[in-house]
Amino acid sequence: MLKTFLTACRGPVLFVGRGFSSDVSVGVSKLAGFSSPTLSSEASLYVHWPYCLRRCSYCNFNKYIPRSDNQDVMSECLQRETETLLRLSHVSRVTSVFFGGGTPSLARPSTIAAVLETVARHAALSESAEVTLEVNPTPILSSKLQDFLHAGVNRFSIGVQSLQDEDLKVLGRDHTSQHALETVGEARALCPGKVSVDVMFGRPGQSIASWELELDELLSVCDDHISLYQLTLERGTQLFSQVQKGQLSVPGDDITAIMYESARKILQKRGYLQYEVSNFAKNGAISQHNMSYWKASQYIGVGPGAHGRFIPHGEGACREARTQTLEPEVWVREVQQRGHGTRRRIPLQHLGQLEEVLVMGLRLIDGITHQHWQFFSPGADLHQIFSSSCEVQDLQQRDLLILDNRGLRCSWQGLAFLDSMLPNLLLQLEAHITRGQEMDRKRPPQSLGDNN
Ligand SMILES: C[S@@+](CC[C@H](N)C(=O)[O-])C[C@H]1O[C@@H](n2cnc3c(N)ncnc32)[C@H](O)[C@@H]1O
Ligand code: SF4
Repeated sequence: MLKTFLTACRGPVLFVGRGFSSDVSVGVSKLAGFSSPTLSSEASLYVHWPYCLRRCSYCNFNKYIPRSDNQDVMSECLQRETETLLRLSHVSRVTSVFFGGGTPSLARPSTIAAVLETVARHAALSESAEVTLEVNPTPILSSKLQDFLHAGVNRFSIGVQSLQDEDLKVLGRDHTSQHALETVGEARALCPGKVSVDVMFGRPGQSIASWELELDELLSVCDDHISLYQLTLERGTQLFSQVQKGQLSVPGDDITAIMYESARKILQKRGYLQYEVSNFAKNGAISQHNMSYWKASQYIGVGPGAHGRFIPHGEGACREARTQTLEPEVWVREVQQRGHGTRRRIPLQHLGQLEEVLVMGLRLIDGITHQHWQFFSPGADLHQIFSSSCEVQDLQQRDLLILDNRGLRCSWQGLAFLDSMLPNLLLQLEAHITRGQEMDRKRPPQSLGDNN
């Protein structure tokens, strides 16, 4: 249960006890500076770089090993698609940019700069806007960090994954823990306070004690932000088949639940506020970009397999979920022919939009405030939808869910059970919306005279 949802939100390509007082979560929302929800005139931008030097044994992201050097054409197409989608969305301000992958630190710094220049030509991109680059601590890439900084990146997210060299080998990583520590050090020197690290737990052969020691070591070198992901065994990966064949074994759910809880406590003691299921920050270093997903704001996804959610201009005011073509060579052809590689567009009706607000918002420690909900659902507030449900009352009595004058959110212990709570909450939401639509249908049409 814990497994699915701890790893369910690692970004727009496919991306846990007591003691966390509500005062802390109020502080988090102030820290984040994220008060109002979506404005159709602004969006964040995700840019996917689909190439990696090799395949890690656990990864099922949309990534490819490059067959030839196509950096020039990739750069041109990323710029062209950025331009097309910005025009289509009529977005006038880009609030943050995230270069993810794959391994975007394989891209040339000039490509990153060119994409940012394209953004700035078509929308306002403030000097202070967060621009994140995911970095693999592969030794041959580390010398490029300074160049990325000059290209406009101001935040690095480093894929440390583990500080155990044996584990890094099993995971198929092409770096050692020493390389990872050096990359973190170099990034911190360039961007103090703006470096995040990704680390995975629940790895083959990992014990609770070794995980706690490793986290301690990581915290002594890392900066102000850390993302913890529980390793998911993804079908089709090498690791999945190794575990199926009994060649490797991963800790069971009971152990990973303890690992998660102990990590939360260790991080809290070391001054990191948990602000989302997998994310922890100190000194206010919350990821502004990821916050736009959790707040159901508009985001544009550029590059092979990227996802976006925004309102395209001139086709009704309907937010759409858009997915770009997965395969880079096909995507390149489409961008060259028609300016973008959008493969699928799903219009999001009112219910779909509210589902997104609910599912994403409950991942945050602050949950969903009444003000935020009302922006998307002016006709029905959180109390009207959820208060009368026996299931919701039961979750409240079990101290897993809180519905009060601030809004709807998980308790500290409830956050670990979010995925088991969501089906009920979604059913409740759907039933409410459907009832409302039926009542609207049955209501007799008003005669013109009624309005006069
Ligand atoms: C897809 S990677 C891209 C970043 C970069 N290429 C790297 O490997 O560090 C983004 C993050 O997703 C997480 N991730 C990828 N596959 C995962 C899996 N099967 N289970 C849990 N986390 C995973 C890793 O922590 C990784 O840092
Ligand atoms: S480097 Fe990152 S994206 Fe590439 S295969 Fe490894 S985990 Fe996946």
